[in-house]
Amino acid sequence: MSAEPQTRVLPAEPTAIEAAAACLASGGLVAFPTETVYGLGADATHGEAVARLYAAKGRPTFNPLISHVPDFATARLLARFSADAERLAAAFWPGPLTLVLPRRADCPVSSLALAGLDTIALRIPAHPTATALLRAFGKPVVAPSANRSGHVSPTTAAHVLADLRGRIDLILDGGPSPVGVESTVVALIDEPTLLRPGGLARADIERVLGLPLASAPAQIDEEAPLAPGMLASHYAPKAKLRLNATAPQPGEALLAFGPAADFGGITFNLSPRGDLVEAAANLFTQLRELDAAGAAAVAVMPVPNDGLGEAINDRLARAAAPRP
Ligand code: TXA
Ligand code: MG
Repeated sequence: MSAEPQTRVLPAEPTAIEAAAACLASGGLVAFPTETVYGLGADATHGEAVARLYAAKGRPTFNPLISHVPDFATARLLARFSADAERLAAAFWPGPLTLVLPRRADCPVSSLALAGLDTIALRIPAHPTATALLRAFGKPVVAPSANRSGHVSPTTAAHVLADLRGRIDLILDGGPSPVGVESTVVALIDEPTLLRPGGLARADIERVLGLPLASAPAQIDEEAPLAPGMLASHYAPKAKLRLNATAPQPGEALLAFGPAADFGGITFNLSPRGDLVEAAANLFTQLRELDAAGAAAVAVMPVPNDGLGEAINDRLARAAAPRP
């Protein structure tokens, strides 16, 4: 075995993207920006590279990964699209939506990446670096969030480095991810079902489908995707979170949303003007900053549950859940 890889960080310029594509082609691991969060990419068709990816993240169980492609024509080679799937893809791709679809019999994605399922999760990201990398590489790329398993998802190259230095080959630095929470995952296998709230609001999807989305019977989670009835700890900062708090108690820091009185202690505000899109973009960075500031306990103000609020509240609930 060779020593741990040196993790290079390169600005996301054309020569770096070429180097990243070459790295993927040789079975390497490359973190790259998407509009939602940074992904940790591997060649989806290369079982050994996928195994290395699980190991680098420290995922305790093999959980299916999202295959990323640059365009709809490529997506069609991997999965079968129902009329509903066609409509959602046309309306929202490229963008923060992942579709779980029946995979084609000749789909070249490794069965390890699919966790042996006959379905596949597909996404076309809307980020120029991601698109350029996917085009340069020319094969599907599996990419979970580029963090150690159980940690907060990264929205900057520095976050990725903090978690994965020495465990991956290359990080393409394309600045902060604008959306800030992971993609919305919708399964179109039986009735359209919301598996994970995310960067595309439920209402936008329901408007295009013309019907309400069913909700997943159990919370899916990257470490235990089908564990029934368990709200696993995930996206977890070190600090202990108290949700829907009206004011901090002695010893607590404050994670505010909307106008908040200055109480003189550690305070971060997801969006002083109460904007849910801004709050989503700030969420994971501020959870990391609360840890960096030494906050051991945090009062979190209520966040409305509409629009991107559903995804924000999902991530906050996981961050506040008891640790394994
Ligand atoms: O925004 C995102 O989606 C980011 C960026 C990098 O694209 N990726 C991401 O991947 O969040 P990951 O692996 O952290 O989350 C993928 C989710 C997991 O909850 C997994 O269980 C679910 O998608 N998933 C993948 N394939 C599935 C399948 N065939 N059936 C049901 N769920 C699936
Ligand atoms: Mg993740």
